[in-house]
Amino acid sequence: MTEQIATNVHWHDGEVSRDDRYRTLGQKGATLWFTGFSGSGKSTVAVALEQALMRRSRLSYRLDGDNIRLGINKNLGFSAADRTENIRRIGEVGKLFADAGIIVLSSFISPYRADRDSVRALHQEGGLDFIEIYVDCPLDEAERRDPKGLYKKARAGQIKNFTGIDDPYEAPNAPELVLKTAEMTLSQEVDAIIELMIQRGILFSA
Ligand code: ADX
Repeated sequence: MTEQIATNVHWHDGEVSRDDRYRTLGQKGATLWFTGFSGSGKSTVAVALEQALMRRSRLSYRLDGDNIRLGINKNLGFSAADRTENIRRIGEVGKLFADAGIIVLSSFISPYRADRDSVRALHQEGGLDFIEIYVDCPLDEAERRDPKGLYKKARAGQIKNFTGIDDPYEAPNAPELVLKTAEMTLSQEVDAIIELMIQRGILFSA
């Protein structure tokens, strides 16, 4: 748990409620949290889902490991402590976006179960939906794909602490959805997520 340092600070509610925002947008804000190895397909699924939602006139926004590490988290590396802080900040950003009414598509390796559980708790305490999607791709398949050539570098010792090679990945125990990306097509994956979103009342209609 990150310590609250500032004192004499209090949350200030406005005169427009979360429900007002949701009604205006015709959707419920939520955080969809994609977790899995680098190269597992997290970003690919999020990009396709974002398009599918836009075709339905639904507003989503992607928070993606590489993008976020070029901006708000540019001062973080890949030590265990930095990965935890990476996920904590994204969790807080996701919570704000979801409160705003946006469907957040968050794609980070997020290798530690405790960090993901903290983000889940943060959303639950705030009365917000958190949907953990395990992008379940075997390491050897992710390494075969190696879209950024990083596994090759990690095997050659040019990158240290690379997830799956010399750094851990803890799979979720009870994710809301598992996508086996080595066995499913992209459109099957998108359909499965949209169905779950409808079931959960995040999209008011299909
Ligand atoms: S996380 O572990 O903190 O969740 P995040 O998803 O933000 O990681 O960033 C992972 C991306 O950073 C990978 O897809 C890869 O492109 C790049 N990367 C660079 N170094 C590493 C490393 N040591 N381990 C994992 N990914 C790395």
